[in-house]
Amino acid sequence: MGIAGGRTQRSGNSMGKKQLNIGLVGYGFMGRTHSNAFLQAGRYFDLPFEPVLKSVCARNAGRVQSFAANWGYESWETDWRRLIERKDIDLIDIAGPNDTHAEIAIAAAAAGKMVMCEKPLGRNAVESTSMVDAVERAGVANMVWYNYRRVPAVVLLKQLLDEGRFGRIFHYRARFLQDWTISEDLPQGGEGLWRLDVAVAGSGVTGDLLAHNIDTAMWLNGPIEEVTAMTETFIKERRHNLTGRVEPVGIDDASAFLCRFSNGSLANFEATRYARGHKALYTLEINGEHASAFWDLHDLHRLQYFDHRDEGRTRGWRSIHITDGDHPYMKHWWVPGLQIGYEHTFIHQFADFLDAVGAGREAAPTFRDALATDLVTDAVLKSAKTRQWESIN
Ligand SMILES: NC(=O)c1ccc[n+]([C@@H]2O[C@H](COP(=O)([O-])OP(=O)(O)OC[C@H]3O[C@@H](n4cnc5c(N)ncnc54)[C@H](O)[C@@H]3O)[C@@H](O)[C@H]2O)c1
Repeated sequence: MGIAGGRTQRSGNSMGKKQLNIGLVGYGFMGRTHSNAFLQAGRYFDLPFEPVLKSVCARNAGRVQSFAANWGYESWETDWRRLIERKDIDLIDIAGPNDTHAEIAIAAAAAGKMVMCEKPLGRNAVESTSMVDAVERAGVANMVWYNYRRVPAVVLLKQLLDEGRFGRIFHYRARFLQDWTISEDLPQGGEGLWRLDVAVAGSGVTGDLLAHNIDTAMWLNGPIEEVTAMTETFIKERRHNLTGRVEPVGIDDASAFLCRFSNGSLANFEATRYARGHKALYTLEINGEHASAFWDLHDLHRLQYFDHRDEGRTRGWRSIHITDGDHPYMKHWWVPGLQIGYEHTFIHQFADFLDAVGAGREAAPTFRDALATDLVTDAVLKSAKTRQWESIN
């Protein structure tokens, strides 16, 4: 940034490119990861547009103003409708709680804006379907922030699978374990705790955590055909922050399911917020005829890989350190051996989105791709109630 004369100089990389004006809704956890991506992407990737942090919207004027100042947004709003009305915004990015996604996305698409939305797309597949219809009817670029598709180690796994190195796939297993809601004194609802309020969140760990596992799984291993599930709500009542009353808890605290993929492989998935000691342990494993692989979010720059075709005496699990220039995305970062982290997944995803828009392509995962995940999470929740296998429509 140049300070001479008091005007900000844009970086050399972005000079002369068409500007793409962003309006962000929500300045919480994801509002920060996205804002960081908007600022960093053009510094590391040759983007077809220059992202401009035009405006940020949230309901509290004082806090949204200081967020705007901290991250360099040119302006701020307290009503997302006003943001969508603005002619100087090209792209609406939705990083609010799950109950804000559909209304904002549908209005943004109708106004002809590009739309990026946090996961899960809707609170259920009905809501998500209306969002898919809206963006497809309007013909606007759209993408959902399933950011684990942009972890270099996970992308490498996808490449190895697509090259056929695993042969026939037999098994897939994934988990997402946390421990932050074990206390029965924790209230539900309101700021920071909307995830425990089913009216806002749509579901508990099924839509919040398993949705990530399912999106990655279907990207790597293809569609899921049928599921059988069980869920549990360990703490049945909590004080609601907005009403002050003790109210029933409508979310699932834990969720586990078995499923069958279209390729014939069997899988099991588990997510919970009651696994004491685990904060965000997303793990996945895939077992094929020739090879297996394992990935762990707490060690996200490594892929554990086993290839049965290796020479017998030295055959074993390899721990591949994903930091070399020929690893996915890594040539944009540091020198071999040096790692990147969680925030980079959002930078990668935003850079891929702009690339796709520049080339007139769809940016995956689209709203339609994310609807596929919501169809599975709906079937999981239904199966937990019916105690039957449920097929995915
Ligand atoms: N991709 C990921 O890995 C990931 C991780 C965390 C959260 N998420 C998703 O991101 C979304 C936001 O989650 P978070 O953890 O950032 O939540 P958060 O509670 O930290 O932030 C939510 C923000 O939305 C704002 N907000 C709420 N209602 C609003 C309204 N009507 N108008 C404008 N702003 C409003 C709040 O003020 C707050 O700034 C959720 O859908 C969540 O599922 C995704």
